[in-house]
Amino acid sequence: MPANILDGKSLARQIRSELREEVIDFIENNVTIPTLAAVLVGDDPASEVYVRNKRRDCEEVGIGSQLHKLPAETTQEELLALIGKLNKDDAVHGILVQLPVPEQIDTDRVLEAISPAKDVDAFHPQNVGRLVQNRPVYLPCTPHGCVQLLKRNNIETSGKHVVVVGRSDIVGKPLSVMLAQRGADATVTLCHSRTADLPSVTRLADILVVAIGRPNFITADMVKPGATVIDVGINRTDDGLVGDVDFAAVSEVAGHITPVPGGVGPLTRVMLLVNTLNAARRLVTSY
Ligand code: GUN
Repeated sequence: MPANILDGKSLARQIRSELREEVIDFIENNVTIPTLAAVLVGDDPASEVYVRNKRRDCEEVGIGSQLHKLPAETTQEELLALIGKLNKDDAVHGILVQLPVPEQIDTDRVLEAISPAKDVDAFHPQNVGRLVQNRPVYLPCTPHGCVQLLKRNNIETSGKHVVVVGRSDIVGKPLSVMLAQRGADATVTLCHSRTADLPSVTRLADILVVAIGRPNFITADMVKPGATVIDVGINRTDDGLVGDVDFAAVSEVAGHITPVPGGVGPLTRVMLLVNTLNAARRLVTSY
């Protein structure tokens, strides 16, 4: 029997409509519009699309957004100066520097310069540390999107074996930590490019999460029948956008599966809005 499709697009729409109510309520009570400042350096077309979509999402739920577009030859000092200004600006609650930045700029320095209180990507080492200690201020957007997709589809993680493929700072590492925490209570295996006999590990997964950026990498023989498969990959190929999972073949084996597009991506976007509203709440309550 083909797998159930985990429809991220409609779930994201539902969460956005919940958020819209919360934003209206916040504005009424605080006379402040929660505002995201997006910083885009250079003219990478994919980054331009991502930032445009993020701003459109903000508009849809009543969150304000600013675009700070800097030329490709911007120096590190110039970018740090802008971040310093946004850190101090009380009208800005969340700051996002779209990655990647041009090569003359040190990404780590930039991410560390963003005030942890306004770090709605949750990339600052302070926010990463707090996440590991299970007292997060902000949850990173893509891992949080994956967790919400599981929760809101009533897919139990407690006592389950989750196998995460890919150890990136943005997805694999934080998601492994989050699912192993008290509350989620999964047993987590984190796999990467040096994992020996990967298929023998992925076949153990009750929940398989794949975030490696290799089109159609996970094949049907790598999946336990009935498993939940979360595909975080977005790969541009001659056949259009495809995930890291061979969707057609794996959906014949899996119990639940996310499509690409329309799976994790829409939830990642919505979690940025959640963090921006939380940032505004924290700022007005001076927490
Ligand atoms: N580039 C690709 N993904 C992301 C993300 O989640 N946040 C930022 N700031 N840049 C990205």
